[in-house]
Amino acid sequence: MHETYNSDRLKLSEPNRASAAINPRLGIVGGGQLAKMTALAGLQLGCVVVVLERNHHSPAANLASHSLVGDWDEPEDLLRLAGQADVVTLENEFVDAASLGALEAGGHALFPTARSIALVQDKLVQKQTLATAGLPVPRFCAVENPEAVARAARQFGLPLLLKARRNAYDGKGNVTLRSLEDIAGAWQKLGGNAGNELFAEAFCPFVKELAVIITRGRDGATATYPLVETVQRDHVCHLVLAPAPVDENVAQRALDLARRAATAVGAVGSYGVEMFLTAGGEIFLNELAPRVHNSGHYTIEACVCSQFENHVRAVLGWPLGETRMVAPAAVMVNLLGDQKAVGRPVGIEQALAVPGAHVHIYGKAMSGAGRKMGHVTALGTTLAEAQATAQRAAAWIRFGEKI
Ligand SMILES: Nc1ncnc2c1ncn2[C@@H]1O[C@H](COP(=O)(O)OP(=O)(O)OP(=O)(O)O)[C@@H](O)[C@H]1O
Ligand SMILES: [Mg+2]
Repeated sequence: MHETYNSDRLKLSEPNRASAAINPRLGIVGGGQLAKMTALAGLQLGCVVVVLERNHHSPAANLASHSLVGDWDEPEDLLRLAGQADVVTLENEFVDAASLGALEAGGHALFPTARSIALVQDKLVQKQTLATAGLPVPRFCAVENPEAVARAARQFGLPLLLKARRNAYDGKGNVTLRSLEDIAGAWQKLGGNAGNELFAEAFCPFVKELAVIITRGRDGATATYPLVETVQRDHVCHLVLAPAPVDENVAQRALDLARRAATAVGAVGSYGVEMFLTAGGEIFLNELAPRVHNSGHYTIEACVCSQFENHVRAVLGWPLGETRMVAPAAVMVNLLGDQKAVGRPVGIEQALAVPGAHVHIYGKAMSGAGRKMGHVTALGTTLAEAQATAQRAAAWIRFGEKI
């Protein structure tokens, strides 16, 4: 939904105007929790933060020195944001790369670049880019119609993943096909009939899902965070275990793949790299996110410099911070909504009473089934200890009453 601008709202208040004259102005496209945590890191470093979102009630809007209501896909709205910022960055990969190209053409600094976003936001192009760079990905192919899906099933075997090329998140653009009879329904569900472009991907029989946050500077310098294990429930990230309980050899290979993947897509800023580990110890890349990532939220408390701070440093061209952990183990539990309800957290007092639990509430106006509403991180001397603390606190929190 597109809301119109209220020009009075767009005027900077006087103190902010003074601050904007001397401090770097960071523009963020999107105002969700990733923008909020990035804004917090930017504010710590003295940045003035400006956010562009589709409505006034975004989690990041309260923190921003200045927030614009507009449409990410409108080059004109992006240019308004860029006009108020020294550097523009993104909290999601759904902004049309061609619109972003208009910013660069207008001489504005955009990181990640429109080219890098273009290589990542279309998951088929992303897979082709990674495969061309010699990186291991599950076998995949474009599918133009249900018959092509059936051919892919014969070639790659079942189960088979049918995925949307664009705009997928939290598993919403994926269907796992277990038999040829599932094809028609999956094609319909993913909007194949409505012109959504899809691709097919071989099922990867993973024993663990792994992820790495990598920050790459404007000069190509990289900083990698520890390898983590992510545990998904209904295709949504539920738990993150840091460091991943795997052999050192697996961790080294995973970090190397993350570096090569980030280079292949010309990353600047913090990127999430999702991977599969098989029983035989092979690692396959699942997908990249050209932005800070849920698997790196633990870095706020558990690492010397968080993925958010390193993202701000990278896009501003500043030196990258240290990524090492400050405790032997950390676990993050996502707080997911379980129903459509107002976003007010219930049980937060009890959660805050759990020693060692770091509670984050994103401040979303509305909750919904599976919606990411907050998270809890705990550090520990072991993963089991950290997990017990984080889950004890998380178990208290619910969002709103049914409406
Ligand atoms: N090839 C595959 N083989 C087995 N499982 C898969 C495969 N691809 C995806 N999955 C499962 O589905 C989950 C979501 O897939 P994917 O990461 O492609 O989608 P997404 O919508 O971008 O999700 P998210 O936003 O949570 O990253 C994966 O984390 C994994 O559990
Ligand atoms: Mg994913």
